[in-house]
Parts: sequence; structure tokens; C-alpha cells
Amino acid sequence: MNFLPEEIDNYATEHSSKESELLYQLNRQTNIKVLQPRMLSGHLQGRILSMLSNMIQPEYILEIGTYTGYSALCMAEGLKDDGKLISIEIDPEIAEFAIDFIGQSEYSQKIHVHVGDAMEYIEQLESGFDLVFIDADKSNYPQYLELVYPKLKMGGYLIADNVLWSGKVAFPAKEKDIDTQVLQGFNRKLTDDKRFENILLPVRDGLMIARKVK
Ligand SMILES: C[S@@+](CC[C@H](N)C(=O)[O-])C[C@H]1O[C@@H](n2cnc3c(N)ncnc32)[C@H](O)[C@@H]1O
Repeated sequence: MNFLPEEIDNYATEHSSKESELLYQLNRQTNIKVLQPRMLSGHLQGRILSMLSNMIQPEYILEIGTYTGYSALCMAEGLKDDGKLISIEIDPEIAEFAIDFIGQSEYSQKIHVHVGDAMEYIEQLESGFDLVFIDADKSNYPQYLELVYPKLKMGGYLIADNVLWSGKVAFPAKEKDIDTQVLQGFNRKLTDDKRFENILLPVRDGLMIARKVK
């Protein structure tokens, strides 16, 4: 879902740095071989994640929801030399696809894909993340926020994808539309939460960016 007219979106992409050949191939192969290729961050959002990561220069990144590894590879571009990115993916087949592509990249030693349920694994991780990217099951976004809060460094950043949910969050949600209701609650909770400063960027399907201040 893009909120900009297609021509403007294309113009923005054409006037942003190119994605690497590996990312281009990963995007292409995901579209050919994997279900729901729209889940992949894609060129423009990928460059945004890369730019943010380069600005933050993280040592330690957590990603919840690897899918085929596109966003992990983009964020890894900003990692410090001895930095590490842990990405959690519940689907073993998708994780295998991601691990194969990550293995072909210059970040193969820096990215670790954990296959399992993020709801169970996050608590086992050591603290000290500079950047956390939440991009898995929408119904658990509020729980992810609480699980990652103690693991995030003071001044660290949290980015959550799809918070506009095709624009549905801006209108009263249907009774059975649980994902929209949960995302509305997540956006409100984070905005009211004194532990964070936040901004909702209307890029692609909505990127919530929050900084831990308390
Ligand atoms: C939107 S896709 C991630 C896209 C990827 N971050 C990117 O930008 O290219 C969401 C992924 O989260 C995974 N997922 C869903 N629930 C999960 C859970 N509880 N723990 C870990 N991964 C989960 C799905 O299998 C799916 O691959």
C-alpha cells in the first residue's frame, strides 16, 4: 500500500539511492517464489531503513519478522564494524530463504536469524538494543512494545511497520477487524506513552518511529 500517487512514489524511488544488486535480486526472487511478496519492505522503505540505521550507527539491532531478509539487510548497512543484528522469524521455510540470501551478502557474519516465535524468544535476549524494528504479527504489536522496552537502550529507537494499515486506522474499525483495532490502540498507546517520543511517518504503509526517553 502506498499513500502517494504512483507517479510521485516512482519519482521518490527514482530520486533515492539505488538498492544493491543483491537486494534487487532478493526482491525479484521473493516476488517469483514466495507467497505474499507485498510484505517485503521494498526499495524506498529499504533505503529509509538503511538511512536511519546509518544515522543511528547501531551496535545491536533486533528485528521482529524477518520474512525474506530484505529489511534486515538494509538495516545491517548502518551497523558498526563489530555490530550484530538478530532477526526473528516464525516460519522455517521463509527463514531458510532469508538465510540463503543473507549468506550471499557482506553481512552474513553480522546477521543472525532465529527461527521461532518472537513472543517467546525476546525475553531470552540480552539487553542493549540501539534499534528495534517491529514488523511481524500486528495483533501482538502492543505486547512487543512491552517486551522490547526493557531491552532497548535509553535513547534507542523503535520502528514499527504497517501502522497505517492501508489507511484503515484513521476510520472507525469494523467490529471483527481485530488488526485495525489493535493497531489503533498501539498508535494511541505509543503516542501517550511518556517513555517515548514518536513520529508517525506516512511512508508506504506507515512507519512509526519512537525514541526511548525514560
Ligand atoms: C511483514 S513480514 C516482514 C517483512 C520484512 N521485515 C521486510 O521488511 O522485508 C512479517 C513476518 O513476520 C513473521 N511472523 C509473524 N508472526 C511472528 C512471530 N510471532 N514471531 C516471529 N515472526 C513472526 C511472518 O512469518 C512474516 O515472515
